[in-house]
Amino acid sequence: MPTGPDIILTLKVLVAAVTVLLLAALAALAAGRPRLHGRLNTLFLVLTLATVAGFELLLQFVDVKAAFDPATRAALRVHLYFAVPAAVVIPVMWVLGRTGRKRAHLTLAAAFAVLWAGTVVTGLFFLPH
Ligand code: HEM
Repeated sequence: MPTGPDIILTLKVLVAAVTVLLLAALAALAAGRPRLHGRLNTLFLVLTLATVAGFELLLQFVDVKAAFDPATRAALRVHLYFAVPAAVVIPVMWVLGRTGRKRAHLTLAAAFAVLWAGTVVTGLFFLPH
């Protein structure tokens, strides 16, 4: 069984990695390559959902009380308040992008940006390292 610090470190690496992908997808957009933006974000979607699902699954097998102290548990809870809604919004963003609903895609992008910023800040900086 992985220890609490192993889990947190893995989580941080994964959050950082998918954020790099997201930034690359935004750079593709800025470079006038919306198709590349779409493809990079497809990868972003798959990896992010796998991370959230894997993490939730892992928590079913880990003795959460033993693995994490109360402060870490509280920080993890705050992280999931951002990460779980983000994981719901991402597939919606994907469908809106793929079906060319640009206005709706951009409107939701604002909410998504807040959720993702929260996911990164709470995932990388609020959790102990
Ligand atoms: C975070 C801010 C984001 C902004 C500002 C943004 C913006 C855009 C824009 C301007 C387009 C081109 C739309 C058009 O010309 O019709 C687009 C396309 C697209 N976006 Fe995003 N997007 C963002 C995030 C995402 C996310 C998180 C996903 C999915 C996980 C996504 C998936 C797509 C897809 C699949 C397309 C269609 C690409 C294609 O034409 O093949 N986007 N986006």
